[in-house]
Amino acid sequence: MSESSAQARLKAKCSVLYALGIYLPFSNLARAARARSRALRGKPNRHQQDTQLPEASWHRLIPSRPAVLVEAAKANGNVRVSELAVLAKAAAAVPAGREIIEIGTFDGRTTLNLAINSDPATSVFTLDLPPELATKFSLDHGERKFVEKPVPGERYRRCGPPWKDSTAKITQLLGDSGSFDWSAHFGKAGLVFVDGSHAYDYAKHDTEMAFQLVAPDGVVIWHDYGVWQGVTRALEELERERHLGLRQVRGTSLVFWRRPA
Ligand SMILES: C[S@@+](CC[C@H](N)C(=O)[O-])C[C@H]1O[C@@H](n2cnc3c(N)ncnc32)[C@H](O)[C@@H]1O
Repeated sequence: MSESSAQARLKAKCSVLYALGIYLPFSNLARAARARSRALRGKPNRHQQDTQLPEASWHRLIPSRPAVLVEAAKANGNVRVSELAVLAKAAAAVPAGREIIEIGTFDGRTTLNLAINSDPATSVFTLDLPPELATKFSLDHGERKFVEKPVPGERYRRCGPPWKDSTAKITQLLGDSGSFDWSAHFGKAGLVFVDGSHAYDYAKHDTEMAFQLVAPDGVVIWHDYGVWQGVTRALEELERERHLGLRQVRGTSLVFWRRPA
């Protein structure tokens, strides 16, 4: 292994420790302090909705296997670094041979981390919407900027050693999640990450699709609960109606569900 590869691996290991050991607890404290201060001043938080799902810490939900983080720098539209680390841990826990499915590739930062943290025999499929494609449902206001890009998955495409080999596990799919034919993947996923359109109709539709994709004992994780109103409403309605046991991962906008074995 070249020295630069060794350094890259060390940095990637340290990034997980930072994300879960420092960023997650301290950003929680900072958020709670800001919320208290706003409440005292009678100012609502425009970026954070009231939420109802029960919370659980990530390590009660996901076995803690060793993980690494690359491309840790967050762009607008990406998950937070703490959320990326939780997703990396979830990918590391996917049994060999199961699939990982992501709805909403964007720049491929999460896709890359799902690929490098999962077993070499695990395939990663990621779906994104070509900008010119008509959609089955309306996108939410403000989502177009994430759709309009020359190519999805830029960050896994440009990835170099020592992670390059893992990107061969990634299959980029193109289409509208509202009408995409996933039937070849039904019941095969150890992890489904739902992070496409945040509009209510899409959040509902993609959730039902995730339930078809996930294998027994597999996991579904949603992003942007408490952030995008369509996602929050869809997940809370679902929990009220079906009592599935959805949990918000404490300190994140991720929601977690494990299909019974
Ligand atoms: C918030 S970004 C995803 C972020 C990414 N998962 C990450 O962790 O960095 C949402 C992505 O979903 C895609 N998208 C939006 N509507 C979609 C649809 N109907 N079908 C498939 N992809 C969609 C957008 O093009 C965008 O790339």
